Amino acid sequence: MSETVLKMDVVDEAIASREADAWVIGVHAGSEAQAALTLCPEGVQHAVRHALKAGWMRGDTGESLFLPISKDDQPPVARVLLVGLGKRDALTAESFRALGATVVKTCEKSGVNRAIALLSLDTWPLLSSRRVMEAMAEGAWLGNYRFERLQSVSKKETPRHRLKRLDFALPGNKIKGARKRLDQVERITRGVALARDLANLPGNLLTPDILAKKARELAERLPIKTTILSGPVLAQKGMNGILAVGQGSANPPCLIVLEYRKGGDRPTLAVVGKAVTFDSGGISLKPGAKMEEMKFDMSGGAAVFGFLHAIAEMKLPINVVGIVPAAENLPSGTAQRPGDVIKTAKGLFVEVINTDAEGRLILADALHHAASFDPDVIIDLATLTGACVIALGSHATGLMGNNLPLQKKLRQAGEKCGERVWPLPLFAEYQEQIKSVVADIKNVGGREAGTITAACFLSRFVDETRAWAHLDIAGTAYDLSGTRAHVPKGAVGIGVRLLCRYALAERK
Ligand code: BES
Ligand code: MN
Ligand code: ZN
Repeated sequence: MSETVLKMDVVDEAIASREADAWVIGVHAGSEAQAALTLCPEGVQHAVRHALKAGWMRGDTGESLFLPISKDDQPPVARVLLVGLGKRDALTAESFRALGATVVKTCEKSGVNRAIALLSLDTWPLLSSRRVMEAMAEGAWLGNYRFERLQSVSKKETPRHRLKRLDFALPGNKIKGARKRLDQVERITRGVALARDLANLPGNLLTPDILAKKARELAERLPIKTTILSGPVLAQKGMNGILAVGQGSANPPCLIVLEYRKGGDRPTLAVVGKAVTFDSGGISLKPGAKMEEMKFDMSGGAAVFGFLHAIAEMKLPINVVGIVPAAENLPSGTAQRPGDVIKTAKGLFVEVINTDAEGRLILADALHHAASFDPDVIIDLATLTGACVIALGSHATGLMGNNLPLQKKLRQAGEKCGERVWPLPLFAEYQEQIKSVVADIKNVGGREAGTITAACFLSRFVDETRAWAHLDIAGTAYDLSGTRAHVPKGAVGIGVRLLCRYALAERK
């Protein structure tokens, strides 16, 4: 969990005299204040109109301006924070997520403890004021996240100021409903924070064993059942994909199973997440540059943890099994070699051409294990291929699978929550590329269509009869650019909000 809690609530806009340090008022492009400004006391309205007339603020996206309000105007607050909304027609939920995060950051810099945002009265072309609030709150919580636990006390001695409270002012009759949504958003973003925390931990502090321990801790706090398969049990189940990837490391691999069953006799959703706690490539060693980024190679597993945390906190009436194969991919005298052939739990023989294509090896056993829970839908998330980063960059997750209706639902969920997914085809012809001379299949399919041939490999471990979707999150799992206000540098926690949206839509 991020250390500072940012509290949010919905308040009655009729009570304009609430105690707060700053009122947040949006300014549309062309210096036009949000209509809700009229809810403010005369003095505040006057100050804002004056500032806009004087051209202090254009209303461009990302723009912000603090206006001090003098005592004579008898305002309930000391300052007004004007934030640029950009062109009215271009406003989307994603703009409000960014806005929420920007508000938090601006308040942090300026020593604001409590801010209040006015949301009603305006008409948003694409969104209801409820969705505007949801998106702003989501962005604020996402943007408020910090990963600071590895910074020494001395760095913490001069702590930065943090915003403590952000309230949203809405008409009295909307408060109850809006509070419910806010509560849901909070539970979802807490799941995202958990996924980020796990993914941000480096390889020495998050080994497969430690991840298993985190799973057990989850089971203590929430209605989740945790099962860990390791050592002899993995061997007995024939999970040689997981064992082979882990055999080069002193930190042994395991398979983590998280079960949440509050859906009675409803069908089961299985979510499978790759958790290579560090991917050096193994004997097929990766080049040194940026190798440290491979601490994020367990982001799929982290998303599964975050998703289960969120749905358990939301108490959703659904059945979900989370399956997380965890291993560390290192080169050593005990590591697997290129050319090795392994028999997977399903019985398929795999020739390991490249030990750096390890994700599909552990997922093979995990996907096979998922079937034992007889799910009607299987969704896997994996930082699987560098080729996906080349194909889609960081703005969309790769989507593949065997079921178009499922893909459609995931695309819709992604569009709604801002975690977009984009399809790539799994035409039968691509399967040719992973044919092996000595075994059934090989773990690489050559240079062409690397993301697709990786998914082809996975498809061999899923029954045709089950709806399956594969999400390649290699390009979306972490962001070291710091260019998005609601995504601090490091792990994005990608997939948690997507899966939550999907699950919430399915439940209806
Ligand atoms: N974990 C990597 C993929 C990856 C690359 C994730 C960049 C995030 C950013 C994966 O295990 C891997 O090494 N894939 C290889 C496959 C190849 C050997 C067929 C790759 O993409 O180069
Ligand atoms: Mn690899
Ligand atoms: Zn990997």
